[in-house]
Amino acid sequence: MTGYSPRFHRLDKLLTDNRAFWQFMPFAATDLIWQSSHPGLCDWLNGLSDEAIAAFLHDGEALALALSPWLPAAPELYRLSQLEALQPSGDASEPAWPQGLDVGIPGRKWQQITAFNRATPALQLPILEWCAGKGHLGRVLAVSHQMPVVSLEWQQTLCEEGDVAARRLQLPIRFVHADAFEPASAEHVLARQHAVALHACGDLHVALLQRVTERRGKAVTISPCCYHLIRESHYQPLSRVGQQSQLQLSKHDLRLPLQETVTAGQRVRRQRRTEVSFRLGFDSLQRFVRGSDTYLPVPNVQKAQLNAGFASFCRWAAEKKQLELPSAIDFEHWLQQGEQRFARVERMELVRQLFRRPLELWLIEDRVGYLEERGYQVSVGAFCDKPVTPRNILIHAERKDN
Ligand SMILES: C[S@@+](CC[C@H](N)C(=O)[O-])C[C@H]1O[C@@H](n2cnc3c(N)ncnc32)[C@H](O)[C@@H]1O
Repeated sequence: MTGYSPRFHRLDKLLTDNRAFWQFMPFAATDLIWQSSHPGLCDWLNGLSDEAIAAFLHDGEALALALSPWLPAAPELYRLSQLEALQPSGDASEPAWPQGLDVGIPGRKWQQITAFNRATPALQLPILEWCAGKGHLGRVLAVSHQMPVVSLEWQQTLCEEGDVAARRLQLPIRFVHADAFEPASAEHVLARQHAVALHACGDLHVALLQRVTERRGKAVTISPCCYHLIRESHYQPLSRVGQQSQLQLSKHDLRLPLQETVTAGQRVRRQRRTEVSFRLGFDSLQRFVRGSDTYLPVPNVQKAQLNAGFASFCRWAAEKKQLELPSAIDFEHWLQQGEQRFARVERMELVRQLFRRPLELWLIEDRVGYLEERGYQVSVGAFCDKPVTPRNILIHAERKDN
């Protein structure tokens, strides 16, 4: 799919017009935030059972339809966030992989890598693997594309392990131990080259796109992830159309595309319910004790701390925040507050869920616009199914003029 601007403009308008439904922190709110603006929506949300919420989380189309009385744009947002599955590029059959190529690659990672490989055109160009980790992808590309690979990675141990694996298989792969942000790393980006990055976080894949366009690289293929891992406090749009947008995205907003509760199992969901209820219960308690109706973030907690119960959690959190608790506290009451707030957070997150993929596509299209503005022909699609990885969007760009 190419020529993204109309979609970008529509997403931008719908996301901007409907900011009140997704651009806030459910955690910090003590009540459903639409009580006065949309009481009917709040009644509907309060009436949902846990099972109904779980069902809507699995069925985005049904969620969009159900929300449409209060959010008329919901079905359109759902439609706009549908992506074509990428067809395998070139010869659909995979090469016979050399024995041992998949050694040390967890099953799901192997599926991601082989899917990424199938969707990546073989351009007969040397390959640069950006933020390579142990270079799992680089090894598959070296075999499949029959091209030399340079794998750039920041962690020395990963470079060493990747180097051992490449030598064992006698593949033409060279590891470069370097920080992708260092200006010197740009020298590894060449004009006659195909740069790739699978799941390089936030600014790391953005840095690659910038280096590739500056150095007139022939082709780049990336699958972005962790949009919130940026060095600035807010998102800096890359494209001209992105820069004209009214949207200001904080790191909290940028986490939204990654919030996929769907894949979590029963046990993980139970654990999350306990932890979030404890945190929200403590938050209500601290607001009361401090006499200040503001949210107080509490650091990460060891699971063992949760097993010790709510009262113990509150004492631990109070100590972390240097807050003196009164000697007599009705912990039962505050835990109940936390559980009620958890239920409201779940319901607010359900509404935010509708905007998760549209916001991700807005970010993707900002990257697409940036590349197109610099003379690249760009295509975008899903390179694998969501269960293989929810970060399944692939951007492929080729320079038109060299
Ligand atoms: C999410 S992992 C992806 C690894 C690999 N591409 C994959 O899909 O398995 C991100 C990688 O980026 C590397 N990384 C983080 N910061 C970096 C930097 N400043 N320069 C180079 N690599 C970096 C990490 O060490 C890690 O190996």
